[in-house]
Amino acid sequence: MSPPTRPQRVAGLRSRASRRMERKHAEQALRDMQTNLAHVARITTLGELTASITHEVNQPLGAVLTNAEACLRWLDRATPDLDAVRRSVEWIIDDGKRASEVIRRVRALAKKTEIEKVPLDVNDVVREVVALVQRELASHRVSLRMELAPALPLILGDRVQLQQVMINLVMNGIEAMQSVTDRLRELVIRSRRDETRRLLVSVTDGGVGIAKEDAERLFDAFFTTKPSGMGMGLSICRSIVEGHGGRLSVSGNEGPGATFQFTLPVTLFAA
Ligand SMILES: Nc1ncnc2c1ncn2[C@@H]1O[C@H](COP(=O)(O)OP(=O)(O)O)[C@@H](O)[C@H]1O
Ligand SMILES: [Mg+2]
Repeated sequence: MSPPTRPQRVAGLRSRASRRMERKHAEQALRDMQTNLAHVARITTLGELTASITHEVNQPLGAVLTNAEACLRWLDRATPDLDAVRRSVEWIIDDGKRASEVIRRVRALAKKTEIEKVPLDVNDVVREVVALVQRELASHRVSLRMELAPALPLILGDRVQLQQVMINLVMNGIEAMQSVTDRLRELVIRSRRDETRRLLVSVTDGGVGIAKEDAERLFDAFFTTKPSGMGMGLSICRSIVEGHGGRLSVSGNEGPGATFQFTLPVTLFAA
């Protein structure tokens, strides 16, 4: 029998190599899981906007049908009115573009991509979200006030994830004011730089407010007080904000309602 040293050494080498492989696999699995979770979170957030999205697509589609029918009528005339046909077709093209633009925005939000942190102006993120939730605000008769500090330093962040945070906070604010009938329904979004090297973004509503005993539970997954709520919004928000090195917290207002606010660290290459 040959001495066992050599095969053992080989086995030892192989196992070190395979340990490295295992670690690589584990790291990839973790990245995949993070991507999947981020994807679920995006879809969950989109779910909040279903009513708006449906409306924004249905409206131009309805207009397309109306104009197409009008076209047929212009063409069926004894002397077809081609100018009218041309005008209607141009409107059809415009509405078609509008509908596909909505779908493009939704797909960008729903797409499964790895988290990508780039230098961002938080005010741009706020403005993009406001465009997405405009209809929700209008249909719930909520007026929006923005107090965005100008020329903020950039932060390093994932644009879509930070949009998700804002969408969730804004939708919660709107929902919290649904029962308000005796005062103005106003939502205020503020951004500013705080005393330290951090940015602060807050969403203030004048809604039902938050009971003391709920203040920390709000951020738990599946905690909801809404009949058809999922209770994932704030839990997603908190994990995204913390993934950006920031903190998300809630406080009561002097008057009615609540304020949710998060911080984000300013990057060194600040503008
Ligand atoms: N702006 C707010 N005002 C009052 N309560 C709020 C507000 N935002 C969140 N909440 C409370 O926190 C709970 C959890 O919110 P969230 O995680 O977004 O889930 P969901 O909106 O599906 O209930 C809500 O059900 C509600 O009770
Ligand atoms: Mg919510």
